[in-house]
Amino acid sequence: MSLSKLRPLANLQRAGWLPGMQQQVRLQATAAATQEGVVNGAWENAKPFKDLPKIPMLDVMRKMDEMRKLGKPRYHKLFAEYMAEENITRFWFPGMGWQVFITEPEDVQTMFANDGKHPIEPGFDFFVQYRHYKKNLFPDSTGLLGSHGEEWYHARSMVQQDMMRPKSALYYVDDISEITNQFLDLMQKNRDVPDVIPFIYRWALESVGAIFLDSRIGCLNDQPAMEAQAMIECVDVCLGDPLIELSTKPPIWKIWKGADYKKFDAASERMFQITSGIIKKAQIKNKDKVYENKESMNVLAKLTEKCGPDSTIPQVMAMDALFAGIDTTGNTSAFILYLLGSNPEKQELVYKEIVEKLPPGKQLTASILNELKYPKAVVQETLRLLPVVGGFGRLTQTDMVLAGYQIPAGTKVSATIVEPMRSEKHFQNADKFIPERWIRGCPAAEAGKKSHPFACIPFSHGPRMCIGRRFAELEMHVLIIETLRRYKVKYEGPVVDLITPFINRPDGPIKVTFEPRN
Ligand code: HEM
Repeated sequence: MSLSKLRPLANLQRAGWLPGMQQQVRLQATAAATQEGVVNGAWENAKPFKDLPKIPMLDVMRKMDEMRKLGKPRYHKLFAEYMAEENITRFWFPGMGWQVFITEPEDVQTMFANDGKHPIEPGFDFFVQYRHYKKNLFPDSTGLLGSHGEEWYHARSMVQQDMMRPKSALYYVDDISEITNQFLDLMQKNRDVPDVIPFIYRWALESVGAIFLDSRIGCLNDQPAMEAQAMIECVDVCLGDPLIELSTKPPIWKIWKGADYKKFDAASERMFQITSGIIKKAQIKNKDKVYENKESMNVLAKLTEKCGPDSTIPQVMAMDALFAGIDTTGNTSAFILYLLGSNPEKQELVYKEIVEKLPPGKQLTASILNELKYPKAVVQETLRLLPVVGGFGRLTQTDMVLAGYQIPAGTKVSATIVEPMRSEKHFQNADKFIPERWIRGCPAAEAGKKSHPFACIPFSHGPRMCIGRRFAELEMHVLIIETLRRYKVKYEGPVVDLITPFINRPDGPIKVTFEPRN
C-alpha cells in the first residue's frame, strides 16, 4: 500500500484524533502496570478489551479517502457515526497498533484523572523525534512540543508559572491593541480580499512575536519588512504541507531525507536563526533594565531570569509558540469574525457591552478587559461550535475503565471532542451561536442545560493542557473589542464548517467586510 494512502489516517493522528504512529501500543496490561486509576471493583466488572467495538479498517480507509478527494475531510462526523451506539470504538492499523476513541465527557474526565505527573501526548511525536535529532539546535531543552516524560516536566516547570498566570498575558493589552488596530487598518486598505485568513495569520504571527520575542516583527506593514517576510515564508512552510507529510508518516526521514524533510528542515533552521537573533537583541535591551517587580517584566525577561541568561529555553518556548500559536489562534479568530458577522443581533449585544465600558477615545486597559464578559463568552462559544483542535491523545500510564471497558496501561486513547460539543445531549440549541450560555446570571445561561464540566474543554485539561491559553485568549478578546469598537462585521457568504487537513480550519474562504461605525 502506498504511503499516500496512509495520509488521511495520519492527518487524524496529527490533529489529535489518532495518536502517534511511532510508538507501539502495549496491549497487555503488565503485572507492573498500576491500577491506581481504577475504582474498587470497576476493573473486574468491566468488559474486557477484546470485546471493544472495532471500526472496519477498509471501510474507514475508503470513506476517509473519499472525503479527502472531495476536499472536505470531516473526520469528526465519520467517527461519530462509528461511535453512535457505544461511545467508544477502536481501530487497528499496521504500524500504529490499536487506537481507542472515546467521546463522552465522563470518559474524558477519567482519562485526565489518570494522566499522572508526565502525561504523554503521542500527537507530538514528530517534534520529539525531530528536535532530538537536531540536538545542535536544541542543546539544553527540546521544549514542550519536543519532549515527553521527565524532560517535558522540566521544561514545563520552567515556563508554567510565567505563562499561565493571567497577569502575564494582561501585560500585553497595549501591544495587542496596537497590533489589532494595525491589522484593521490593513483590512481597510484590502477591502476586497476574498479571504481574511492570510491577513489574520499575519496578525497572529505579529502578536506571538510581540509576546515571545519581545519585538515587533513588521508582518502587518503594507509591505512586510525583510525579516518579517522571511518569518512569514518560514511559518508557511513549517505549518504547511511538509509538516503534515512528515508528522503523519513513519520517520523515514531519519534514513532518507526527501523533499519535505529538506524544506521543513531549512525553514525550521532559518526560523531558529531569525528568532535567535531577535531574542538576543531583546535580551541585551532588557539586561540593564531595572524592574520594580515581577509584574513589570515581559515574558521573555521573566523566562530569562528564571532559566538563566545562557539558557535556550526562552527561545525554544518562542519556537513552540510559533508552531502552536499561529494557525490555532488565527483560525479561531477567523471563525469569530464569521460567527459575529453572520449573527448581527449577537454582535450588537457584544458591542453594547463594549461601548458602555469603553466609549470612543477611551483606551482599553487590563481592568476594563477583566470587566467585559461578552468577548470571553464569544471566544468560548466559537471554540464550542468550531474548535480548531478536534481532540487530544494520551498514551495511558495506568489501567482504567472507559465506557465500561478495560483499557490497559500503554494504550493510545484519543478523545474526540467536536461532536459532544455540538450535541443536544450536552447543550441546548446546540447548533446555535449563543455566547450568553457562558455568562453566569444571564437568562440564556440559567435556562440552559447544565453541561458536564468536561463537555467543552477546547484547551484540554490537566498538566499538559495548552500552555498558550492565556495569550491566545487575550489576543482574541482584544481582537473582538477593538474590531467592534470601530466596525460592524458582516458576513454574507455560505455556511462555514470545519475541515481537518491538520489543525481544523474553515472549509471555505471567510470573506468578511468591516463597515465603519461612524
Ligand atoms: C485558540 C487557540 C488555541 C487552542 C484551542 C489550543 C489548544 C491546545 C490543545 C488542545 C493542546 C493539547 C493539550 C493536550 O494534549 O492535552 C495544546 C497544546 C499546546 N499549545 Fe495550544 N492552543 C491554542 C493556542 C496556543 C498559543 C497561542 C500558544 C502559544 C504559546 C500555544 C502553545 C501550546 C503548546 C506549547 C502546547 C503543548 C503544551 C505541552 O505539551 O505542555 N497554544 N493547545
